[in-house]
Amino acid sequence: MDSYKLLITGGIPLTGETYVSGGKNTSVAVIPAALLSDEPCTIENLPDIEDVRVLTDILRLLGAQVDYQPAARRMIVDPRTLSSCKVSYRQSQRMRASYYLLGALLGRCGEAEVGYPGGCSIGARPVDQHLKAFRAMGAEVEERGAKITAKGKMRGAQVFFDRITVGGTINAMLAAAKAEGSTILYNAAREPHVVDLANFLNSMGCRVRGAGTDTIRIVGAKRLHGSTYTVIPDQIETGTLMIAAAATRGDVVIRGCIPAHMDALTAKLLEMGVSVGDMDDAIRVRTARGHRAVNIKTQEYPGFPTDLQQPMSALLTRANGDSVVIETIFEARFKHLMEMQRMGAHVRILEQTALIEGVPELYGAPVTATDLRAGAALVVAGLMANGTTEIYEPGYIERGYEHIEEKLRALGANIRREPLDPMEMRR
Ligand code: EPZ
Repeated sequence: MDSYKLLITGGIPLTGETYVSGGKNTSVAVIPAALLSDEPCTIENLPDIEDVRVLTDILRLLGAQVDYQPAARRMIVDPRTLSSCKVSYRQSQRMRASYYLLGALLGRCGEAEVGYPGGCSIGARPVDQHLKAFRAMGAEVEERGAKITAKGKMRGAQVFFDRITVGGTINAMLAAAKAEGSTILYNAAREPHVVDLANFLNSMGCRVRGAGTDTIRIVGAKRLHGSTYTVIPDQIETGTLMIAAAATRGDVVIRGCIPAHMDALTAKLLEMGVSVGDMDDAIRVRTARGHRAVNIKTQEYPGFPTDLQQPMSALLTRANGDSVVIETIFEARFKHLMEMQRMGAHVRILEQTALIEGVPELYGAPVTATDLRAGAALVVAGLMANGTTEIYEPGYIERGYEHIEEKLRALGANIRREPLDPMEMRR
């Protein structure tokens, strides 16, 4: 249990300029990828978030030399001292993306043992497609005692994913980067961070083609050289800030983002009556009047991202009219809406569908973050609500959003931390 709560006094329009940090989901793929190199790699623009700190610990436990400079957003990984290819259950449980160590270690050492991954509880999160790809490339894979062991010299293979999976696509790319021969991934994920990983691997001398489409070809390289690489800005943080600006009827310029990555969200915000203006690497979001209700269905990229469904559905609770939100990727991603009922939201959940009846007002109430994006959604809710919202378990938010409180405060939000009193700790 976190020892503090977040307090947000809402109703203040956010105004001014802010910036986007490096991508979480790209960083957690690029850092393990550095283990594939035969020389040190420098990774720039890393967000200063819990998941990056956890990966730093794990890489060090594996024997890699890691010089992490959070203030400079930089990490230098020297994998030449790697002495183990085993990640304990306890370490793996600290984050979801620990599963990328399977692909990276298998690719580098021809063997890996990694505990089942932890992370947000947003539904069942199987890894069968990851393991299917490893097996196709020649690994013997065993799942026993809450850990996965994989062993074998990686050989190029053709993998047809039964469903689109971001993690499976990235893990297969990691395992294939040093494989003998070519690997072709069909029905691959097209997310921006898949492309970012491909660019990083290419910068080390690998040949990855087709990332960003549903067919990716990887020609394995015997040796990968060192590289200095800058990760892309965080698509989901950009979207969360856009939604927060719209929710407070503010006027915010978000700098350092890639507007093209935001097309699905931008289209929905425009449909709601929000003004969204793209510049080269910035987006301006303004709202003068109330928002129209819209329907959302989450999809793989370039569809509407599941990671933005939560903050977006929080925004829809105050739209004019009824919205239908269908979550197709994860089955337990409406917990924030249940919490928001305490703030006056009118919501009915029918399995994977949320029926949201817009209300004119939300009011502050105690709510609990149940996962990272649920936490972000509750922050959006708190910013919209009259009175003060208390968010418990805000630590989830820190796992994925760099300095979110400072960024929102700089835009005028009244957001602060308060230690829990002993009675609350016993809740
Ligand atoms: C990644 O998770 C992200 N995590 C998630 O972000 C994101 O929500 C998700 O992609 C979808 O965009 C990271 O990048 C670390 P998937 P991942 O494999 O890779 C099923 C956040 O909040 N599936 O694309 O785990 C799975 O159950 C996090 O930042 C299988 O059935 O997602 C899901 O229904 C949360 N078998 C769907 O596919 C498999 O082997 C998509 O999952 C793999 C996945």
